[in-house]
Amino acid sequence: MPDVNEIKEAKKFHTDVPYKTEGFFLKGSNSLDWGMKNRLARIFNPKSGRTVMLAIDHGYFQGPTTGLERIDINILPLAPYADTLMLTRGILRSTVPPSFTKSIVLRVSGGTSILKELSNEAIAVGIEESIRLNACAMAVQVFIGGEYEKESIINMTRMVDMGTRYGIPTLAVTAVGRNMNRDVRYFRLATRICAELGAHYIKTYYIEDGFETVTSSCPVPIVMAGGKKIPELDALTMAYRAVQEGASGVDMGRNIFQSESPIAMIQAVGAVVHDNETPEKAFELYNTLKNRNTLAL
Ligand code: R5P
Repeated sequence: MPDVNEIKEAKKFHTDVPYKTEGFFLKGSNSLDWGMKNRLARIFNPKSGRTVMLAIDHGYFQGPTTGLERIDINILPLAPYADTLMLTRGILRSTVPPSFTKSIVLRVSGGTSILKELSNEAIAVGIEESIRLNACAMAVQVFIGGEYEKESIINMTRMVDMGTRYGIPTLAVTAVGRNMNRDVRYFRLATRICAELGAHYIKTYYIEDGFETVTSSCPVPIVMAGGKKIPELDALTMAYRAVQEGASGVDMGRNIFQSESPIAMIQAVGAVVHDNETPEKAFELYNTLKNRNTLAL
């Protein structure tokens, strides 16, 4: 207990300097509470304003898909190069060491498999689990135009309500059914509905025509989904265009972990996202790192 008689008189009040009031760096997020913003700042790098999320949650409806057969062997070595891991609680608890200090985005919707109607999801992980597991955001699939459109939207709004109570953001993942038109009007519709109903950020696909109108009409950050595996240069070009056209980063899975050299690919994606590297330069980096890794084997 300090002795009251020995307290020095405070002098440094800087009465001529206005108190610092910083705006928050992320689009549409300035009115959120401190905990929400702090979690978002662990997902999105405050310097670049962008994120490289590594999506490895495919097993929740697909089982051990190519590249994710052994997460301990194939994926953990990539984790240091990602800003965030997007995964299920099963993989987090069983495989990711608790000493891993980067942010976690937890998959919280589920309940279906590739053998059945995918849009028929429910909330599969309670809010207490997200708190217990120290998640920085909760990911919910939203099937706009799908058979269970309403149910999936309500899954999302329930997580937004619960997450808001505890300061945990909700990521809406827009799922596009096989028979849906992947055009700009669809993506504007899907992302805007999610934002209007409270999602804190949204994952959606890149499209060549008009993607900038998807990002500009969405009041919260958009991260680009990777989609099926394409050649590395094409994937880097897609990521480059997405961020140049307003995306706040990427949430990529197969285009990283199914690459010939996943560890080189995730670093090349990082260069495009955080350093605005051109796809050609990033592809050169990919090849250099790939060759270095091959020589080291
Ligand atoms: C479903 O849509 C999931 O979120 C995926 O499991 C995953 O995030 C997809 O990532 P990618 O399409 O880049 O493999």
